[in-house]
Amino acid sequence: MNYAEALSKLQKYNQEHLLKFYEKLDLEKQKELLDQIETLNLEQIEELYESIKTPKKNKETKVEPIEYIDKEKLTEEEKEKYIKIGNEILSSGKVAAVTMAGGQGTRLGHNGPKGTFDLGLDSHKSLFEIICDTFKEVQVETNCTIPWYVMTSEENNEETEQFFEKNNFFDYPKEKVTFFKQGKYPMIDVNGKILLDTNGLIKEAADGHGGVYIAMLKNGILEDMKNKGIKWIIVGGVDNVLVKMFDPLFIGLYIEQGFPAASKSVVKKYPEEKVGVFCKKDGRPSIIEYTELSDEMAHEVDENGELKYGESNIIVHIFELETMEKISKNILPYHPAFKKANYMDENGNAVISQEPNAYKFEAFIFDAFEQLENMTIFRVKREEEFAPVKNADEKGVDCPKTARELYIKYHNSYEV
Ligand code: UTP
Repeated sequence: MNYAEALSKLQKYNQEHLLKFYEKLDLEKQKELLDQIETLNLEQIEELYESIKTPKKNKETKVEPIEYIDKEKLTEEEKEKYIKIGNEILSSGKVAAVTMAGGQGTRLGHNGPKGTFDLGLDSHKSLFEIICDTFKEVQVETNCTIPWYVMTSEENNEETEQFFEKNNFFDYPKEKVTFFKQGKYPMIDVNGKILLDTNGLIKEAADGHGGVYIAMLKNGILEDMKNKGIKWIIVGGVDNVLVKMFDPLFIGLYIEQGFPAASKSVVKKYPEEKVGVFCKKDGRPSIIEYTELSDEMAHEVDENGELKYGESNIIVHIFELETMEKISKNILPYHPAFKKANYMDENGNAVISQEPNAYKFEAFIFDAFEQLENMTIFRVKREEEFAPVKNADEKGVDCPKTARELYIKYHNSYEV
């Protein structure tokens, strides 16, 4: 795309300010900017802005509880059966895992990729090393080295790779670790104008954890997995220090149920807790946000006194490779998030903001579940599997202090 073409494209959507400092850029940057403009979907950006200004009513959907299996309620025979199947799968060499580590970690406010955060244990293990421990455990138990794919973003890829190098890949075989970058999406200001970054290029931000599917397709990760004979992909976040991705019981149950995907859940702490929960929407697996859940539904219980809408998502998912491939070819919706962004204003001055001032757009990994007929939901115990690091310590919940305490408690009681 040349300058004139770019200008004409932008003018149609009142975004021509993006070329205001074109002349001041060096040749390489000028080309980069034109390339960025060429790929912009201005119609979609305009629609997204309109949807922020005038939120559309959600279309009427039939919401129902989703069936789940409670780990606590399985019999010893069932557990034995599933664990046996799960261990066979884990030893088969057909399992790979993805850690989604492309997020900005804005709430935690750590200076660097979230996975590099030191939890404050005596060992000074980072979140990445804590996850790596689970890969090493399965290696010892099954004699199988699971390929580890780490999704980063443009912002944090270099630092993440350097961190792994510096820490000798936490003594995991380096050749089994692959990094890939998730996609980006332009940020806009409160008036719908696309932002310019302080370097004169379009300001873009990571496109949400839902970007994992297309990033795996575009970066050849799905192809690479296929070549390695992978059949199942386990996907997890970077910030749960009790994460158990390689749980034979979970894997065996999922295989036995025969659905294309599975997720772990923990029951809500209390009915009003502000978390999204698994449900069915128009008969398909989905997540309902706490904002969409009426007070009555939040308190509804079944015949056993269990919350009907109580299964919250802890970001541990299994997909068949074929399922992931299908999903990666479909478009997921973008959700706006109001975040702080540094940018260049219309006078060419850098604006450094401490407060949210612009919109980024994110796809959510679980929005794809509605493409599936059904999925396994496995309720596990919170104190055994969920210790998230989301906020800085002063917030008091889901912070390094609470995660550290849960981590220590769990490891002291289960590893003696
Ligand atoms: P969160 O939604 O908690 O986001 O991510 P975050 O970036 O860690 O933190 P905040 O909201 O900015 O404070 C859940 C998981 O999804 C990953 C995160 O790295 C984390 O493992 N994620 C999130 C991505 O990989 N990419 C994204 O664009 C967003």
